Amino acid sequence: MCGIMGYTGKADATGRLLAGLRALEYRGYDSAGVAVMDAENRVRIVKTKGRLRALEDRLEKCPVHGHCGIGHTRWATHGAPSDANAHPHGTDRLYVVHNGIIENDRELRAELGARGYAFQSQTDTEAAACLLDSLYAGMEDPLAALRAAVARLRGSYALGVIFLDHPEEIYAVREGNPLIVALGEDGGMIASDIPAVLRFARDCYVLEDGEIARVRADGAEFFDRDGRPVCKRPERIEWSTEAAERGGFAHFMLKEIHEEPLAVRQTLGRYVKDGLPDLRGAFDGECERLTMVACGTAMHAALVGKWLMEWLVRIPVEVCIASEFRYNRPVLSPNQRVVAISQSGETADTLAAVRLAKSLGARTVGVVNVPGSSVAREVDQALITCAGPEISVASTKAYTVQLMMMYLTAVQLGLARGALSRERARQIVAALTALPAAIETAIAQSERIQRMAACFDDAENCFFIGRGLDYPGAMEGSLKLKEITYIHSESYAAGELKHGAISLITRGMPVVALSTQEELKEKMRSNMREVASRGARVLLLATPQTAELAGDAEEAFILPDTDALLTPATAAVAMQLLAYYAAVRRGCDVDKPRNLAKSVTVE
Ligand code: F6R
Repeated sequence: MCGIMGYTGKADATGRLLAGLRALEYRGYDSAGVAVMDAENRVRIVKTKGRLRALEDRLEKCPVHGHCGIGHTRWATHGAPSDANAHPHGTDRLYVVHNGIIENDRELRAELGARGYAFQSQTDTEAAACLLDSLYAGMEDPLAALRAAVARLRGSYALGVIFLDHPEEIYAVREGNPLIVALGEDGGMIASDIPAVLRFARDCYVLEDGEIARVRADGAEFFDRDGRPVCKRPERIEWSTEAAERGGFAHFMLKEIHEEPLAVRQTLGRYVKDGLPDLRGAFDGECERLTMVACGTAMHAALVGKWLMEWLVRIPVEVCIASEFRYNRPVLSPNQRVVAISQSGETADTLAAVRLAKSLGARTVGVVNVPGSSVAREVDQALITCAGPEISVASTKAYTVQLMMMYLTAVQLGLARGALSRERARQIVAALTALPAAIETAIAQSERIQRMAACFDDAENCFFIGRGLDYPGAMEGSLKLKEITYIHSESYAAGELKHGAISLITRGMPVVALSTQEELKEKMRSNMREVASRGARVLLLATPQTAELAGDAEEAFILPDTDALLTPATAAVAMQLLAYYAAVRRGCDVDKPRNLAKSVTVE
């Protein structure tokens, strides 16, 4: 949420900031701005409400050039999207861009207001900028002022700062929100996330909480909160440059759906050895129970994992929405694992759940897509998935590889506990290895899904229903559809409908029935008929084994044949495409759905 970019060096700072912000726009897109030091070391601020495009338009009309600057793309928390609330914020001494929330901003505003600061915006960021300014006025030492500011600020934040009397330098500090420093051939950079710097640098330093960085064109220095120098080792970025670009696809979401076979192959390549899972010891030793913590789509992957592990391994699994974990007063034991699932590894609630689990003595495992992210660094053992950068706000390929990790975990635990034979374990892993081809087949048949998508053209409400293993799948399909089409969508366990929600069925309302489990076919048929007889348009996702249900549906898509256990993955791809095409038909901005942002770094 909110993207920060900073650059100092030989290239044109404005161009570099815009390039970085373009790659970060998935983090927020309600306003954007830059502060650039020009050739005479005067700072020029250009900022505006709206997408990055609006900022680019302004900069085209009034070009600003320089060698050092900071930029921001915003997802509003304090103060509605407006020109005034857009970042950077600052004074005549310094400018600040910020990701996160300053919790004591009211107190700071009152204090600083009394000392003569007049605020131009409603943002918490401006309180931080004025606080820093007041401290800098007395010290004239950027590092000392930043350290003093960190001691006063409460909340979670990442800040990028330029001081007007240090025109070649960028300062950065983080407390709870991600920030990296990257050094390229033509200069130094700070950014909220790796995609912003992929085209310009391969070595990056991940800031730890409380650390301050001073970045120059030719290097960076790091200091802890007491001002002591910190020696940091760079992490090598392996992601390809193309991975963070649209590459001819109309949207990142569509591109990333097409990348799913590769993401699955790469993830299995990393965690399968000699036909069996190799999860790098993450579940070695006693493991009597699992608690999974995650949000949104990642939580749906956890629900599929729960089903698999309880069926295949007979091990109890609890799934907690990460934001609720602390309110449940979790009962954890030393012989269990807490598994955090997160694409970004920066979701504030998931990170807080990991910290709580650790403080309660639990061993933690992270299934995380972004290497070097906070969750990846804080868990006892990180299992990094190999989806590459996911730019689309709606998660697609990251979900599929999270599912892969659920299968591999189930098989590994099943073997360890004697619940699965080696033969069955090998069979499941072999089926997983065949999955990329099945996903390719599903994608190749997307014309049929496009036909189904037309049924949502005039829809205001819809349901997704499923039983057993299909129920978490239905939840994910429903989330995907609602977040990018804005159709009100709910998911139900198919058998639960008649206990209340069936009263909401109206004539013409689409109901997506997910039926991939042969033994549940007849019960699903009854549920499909129940809604059809009340006027619903039934759209079926089935397998060759349940295809006969198509007679009870207006439209049907038959998923490629796989082991019945693996249908959550193929069904997910079909439902992602369904949501995608429905959103495109309705003219929605697929990659930037309203009110949302990727990487939810506020609680
Ligand atoms: C939905 C979606 C979100 C994320 C959720 C968790 O398409 O992307 O629901 O799954 O915000 O994000 P991560 O996985 O980064 O922790």
